[in-house]
Amino acid sequence: MESVKKKQSLIERDRQNVWHHISPYSEKNPPMIVEEGKGSWITDHQGNRYLDGMSGLYCVNVGYGRGELAEAAYEQMKKMCYVPMTQSHEPAIELAEKVNEILGGDYVIFYSNSGSDANEVAFKMARQYHQQNGEASRYKVISRYRAYHGSSMGALSATGQALRKYKYEPLSSGFLHVASPDNYRKPEGMTIEEYNLQRTKELEDTIIWQQKESIAAVIMEPLITGGGVLIPHPVYVEKVQEICNRHGVLLIIDEVICGFGRTGKSFGHKHFNVNPDIITMAKGLTSAYLPLSVTAVRKDIYETFKDGEDNSHFRHVNTFGGNPAACALALKNIEIMERENLFERSAELGERLLNELDELRKHPNVGDIRGLGLIVGIEMVEDKITKEPASKELVGKLIAACKNNGLIIGKNGDTVAGYNNILALSPPLSSTDEDIDFIIGVLKKVFNEN
Ligand SMILES: Cc1ncc(COP(=O)(O)O)c(C=O)c1O
Repeated sequence: MESVKKKQSLIERDRQNVWHHISPYSEKNPPMIVEEGKGSWITDHQGNRYLDGMSGLYCVNVGYGRGELAEAAYEQMKKMCYVPMTQSHEPAIELAEKVNEILGGDYVIFYSNSGSDANEVAFKMARQYHQQNGEASRYKVISRYRAYHGSSMGALSATGQALRKYKYEPLSSGFLHVASPDNYRKPEGMTIEEYNLQRTKELEDTIIWQQKESIAAVIMEPLITGGGVLIPHPVYVEKVQEICNRHGVLLIIDEVICGFGRTGKSFGHKHFNVNPDIITMAKGLTSAYLPLSVTAVRKDIYETFKDGEDNSHFRHVNTFGGNPAACALALKNIEIMERENLFERSAELGERLLNELDELRKHPNVGDIRGLGLIVGIEMVEDKITKEPASKELVGKLIAACKNNGLIIGKNGDTVAGYNNILALSPPLSSTDEDIDFIIGVLKKVFNEN
C-alpha cells in the first residue's frame, strides 16, 4: 500500500517539479516514469514492460542493464574520477586510439559532452582553421533543411528544422541551408541518381552564389536520421565531397546518431566513398550510459593550429568533456560491440526488419518504408497518389497503439511544418531475434487494426 502511494505520488511530484524535453504539457498523458532496463526492454514505475524500439533517443546501442559498463565506470571513478582535458589520462588516450582505429584514418580526437557540443567545436575549428590557413574570409557553414545538429545556439543555427528554431531566433549568423535529397518525393521522370545530382548542384550553386571564399564548411549526416530517415543515393554524398574539395570547403560529417553501428557499419559515412575532414559523434559512443562526445579532426587540419603565433591554439575548453569514467566506459562499450559483432548484427537485423515490414506497404496510409541498418522510417501519407503527409492525429494514433501493445516507436517530431509524418524505429543493436519478431508482430497487428 505504502509503495503504491509512493509510486502514484511520483507522477504528481514530476508534474510539480520537472520540465520535460520537447513535449507539450499534458494533464491527461503524464510522461512515463522508467525504473529499469534490461536488453531491449524497459519497465515503468507501474511495472509495465515495453520494448524500446527507439533505444532511448537513438542511443542505447548495446541495450540496457550492462553491468560491465557500470563496473568500468566505477573502477575508473575509484582510481581517478576527474582530469581536465588541458591535461590527459589513460582512458582518453586509449579511447582516442580506438576511435581512430575504427575510423581507419588519421584523426585527432577532441572530447566534449554532447552531440551539440561536438558540432559547436567542429564549427569553431573550421572557422579558425581557415584563419590559420590564410583564408580568414571563410566563415559560413552550409547544412541541409530537415537535418538536426543540436540544441545550442550554433548547432541549432545549423539545424534545418524550422520548428526547432521558431521563437528562439535570431540565432547565429553565417549558417545557410539547402534541400537534401528526399527520394520518395523526387520529381517524376528523373532517375534517383539524376535527382540526387541535381541536389548537389543546388549545393554547389549556393557555394558559388554566396562567394566560395566565404564558405568554411558543409555539415551533414550520412543520412538524415531524426529528421525523417532520408537516405541519399551514394552519388550524392560522393559528389558533395568532390564539390567541397574543389571549393576549399571542409566536409563535417555528423555521426551523432549514425556512428557506432546504427546503420550497419561502424560509421554511416563508411557506406560511401568519402573521407571527411571532421567527424562528430556522441550517443552510441557510450551507448548513453554516460555523457561523452568526440570531434575527430583530420591530422593535417590539427597541424595548422600548431604554429607559434599568439592565439593560434584552439581556445576552447569544457569542464566535463573527456571525463575519465566516461572514456573508460566508452572503451568497454566498444569492446562489447566488437565482441558481439553488433555492427554486423545491425546490418542483418535491419535487413530482416525491412523485408518483413514490406507488407505494411499495403496499408492505405503507408507511403514509403526505408532504412539502413537498425534505423527504419515509415512515411505515413493521407493519399498515396498525392503523397500528402499524414495528419498528426494519425501518426499519434499509431504510436499510441504500439505503446498499448508494449512497443515504443518514435517519429520525426517538431521538424518542419507539415512533414512530421515519419514513424521511426531504432532498437538496440543487441536486440535478440525474438525482440525483432516482437517489433514486427506488434507493427503488423497495429497496422492491421488502424
Ligand atoms: C544528428 C544529430 N546531431 C547532433 C545531435 C545533438 O546531440 P545532443 O542531443 O547530444 O546534444 C543530435 C541529437 O539528437 C543528432 O541527432
